[in-house]
Amino acid sequence: MNRILITSALPYINGIKHLGNLAGSMLPADVCARFERLRGKDVLYICATDEHGTPAELAAAASGQSVRAYCDEQFEVQRRACAGFDLSFDYFGRSSNAPNARLTQHFADILEDNGLIEERVSEQVYSIDDKRFLPDRYVEGTCPHCRYEKARGDQCDDCGRVLDPVDLVEPYSTISGSKSLEVRETRHLFLRQSKMQGRVREWVESAVDWPPLARSIALKWLDEGLQDRAITRDLSWGIPVLRHGKVRPGFENKVFYVWFDAPIEYIGASIERAEAGGGEWESWWRTDKGADDVTYVQFMGKDNVAFHTVSFPITLLGSDESWKTVDKLKAFNWVTWYGGKFSTSQKRGIFMDQALELAPSDLWRWQLMANAPESADAAFTLEHFQTVVNKDLADVLGNFVNRITRFATSKLDGAVPDGGTPGPLENALVKQLKTRLTALTGYYETMEYRKAMAETRAIWAMGNEYLAEAAPWTALKTDRDAAALSVRTGLNLVVISAIIAQPVIPKAAAKVLDAMGVPEENRNWPSPEDRGLLDALPVGLNFTPPDVLFSKITDEDVAEWSERFGA
Ligand code: 2FM
Ligand code: ZN
Repeated sequence: MNRILITSALPYINGIKHLGNLAGSMLPADVCARFERLRGKDVLYICATDEHGTPAELAAAASGQSVRAYCDEQFEVQRRACAGFDLSFDYFGRSSNAPNARLTQHFADILEDNGLIEERVSEQVYSIDDKRFLPDRYVEGTCPHCRYEKARGDQCDDCGRVLDPVDLVEPYSTISGSKSLEVRETRHLFLRQSKMQGRVREWVESAVDWPPLARSIALKWLDEGLQDRAITRDLSWGIPVLRHGKVRPGFENKVFYVWFDAPIEYIGASIERAEAGGGEWESWWRTDKGADDVTYVQFMGKDNVAFHTVSFPITLLGSDESWKTVDKLKAFNWVTWYGGKFSTSQKRGIFMDQALELAPSDLWRWQLMANAPESADAAFTLEHFQTVVNKDLADVLGNFVNRITRFATSKLDGAVPDGGTPGPLENALVKQLKTRLTALTGYYETMEYRKAMAETRAIWAMGNEYLAEAAPWTALKTDRDAAALSVRTGLNLVVISAIIAQPVIPKAAAKVLDAMGVPEENRNWPSPEDRGLLDALPVGLNFTPPDVLFSKITDEDVAEWSERFGA
């Protein structure tokens, strides 16, 4: 299994994403992609903007732009912010591009041919004042399950359930606020999910590699029984509903539902990349063209799990074509903002572009991964951010790198010294390093990121502990060889510390490795079996200490940011 396909849930186009969105999909996917590349795997990491549906239409209307112009602009905004966070996509596409439309129409055709799509008359919310149907987010009201009062027509943000607008209690139009709504009949295409119940369950049960959160959500859905779902909407922005290449009669003013086409864009974006000359796509996605050898890993927030464990697999399996389905699905809980929710619509929390104005991307990356919302929601506060960054990055890693490299430069000529054979202290250090590296690699493999970050921090901390014990500054006065040995060992530990930091804090890691003169080909993920783990740097190698790696976040910073972001 040397090829790894990675996708992170596609961010809606409706405005720049907040740190909670980043932490629950794109960032961990990026960390995973970087780790796998360092292990020599052939990685394809795909993401895109999710541009259809009511979120895009509503946001465009609020900004006074056409939907097309709004999406063009926001795509650039999001692409820039993702680049600022060093998200190493192999391709960042757009669900409104042509490959997705072609594929979506293809899937609809073939699913209908296979008896899994049918036209039905269905009941939709119609607004008399707005003179139109109100699909999904065009209508809000009280959730029939949990009584949350601002539930959206498509999903309740509070209990996470997928909803149908006609189920809402006391609904109102989000266009005009009008409550003068009625239920009218209109025709839509329905995906007959109920027919696929058995096949999906069999597939979920055979999925050995799913972490518990994803599996339990999928099984809960199956236990409740799969419902047939409308996959078209009364909207003008979206993918036209065709049948064998021609507009489907009666569907002139309808488009496919955003959740039908969005996951298809994972494939669509891979085709966009191929069309842009980035490399073929079929060997990643078609099991009859080599994708049997691919491990496919998906990242997403928990509200997306049902769509990825049930709806999208139904599209792929129901086609009876040879499509690659997910092998490992990593889902996340929420990051909270001072006990409440981050919210795009209410502009609560810190957004990706703002975060980069406050501090370098590595600091956010570390904080969000070290506190990943894995087994439960994770609280984000600026005070906690300050503590974590100052302790883990500045005091532990930064301080270690700074101390040993500066000491070596001022006292031992700025070159890697010799100093003879490692002694008991160094042997014990290597032993401990091997144990920790094994654990760290294991946590990356099982995608347990909090544990992986704790182990990373523990390896960094070994540096300071070793220096305290070996005390080269004392040794130097009486035994230059002993001092040289500890400095050489310490410098090697600096390199290992930076190598294992690469998936999560790529900028700082590169800064250290550049300063230490480590060539690109020697930056791969270390194996505990590697010989000379702490003896890799050539004796005599000249280096320059890196500049201060992390500046501390001050109390004044926190006070200013709290004020600005209403913390
Ligand atoms: O929940 C969301 O933010 C969606 N835009 C995720 C889509 S994931 C994929 F299926 F496209
Ligand atoms: Zn609810």
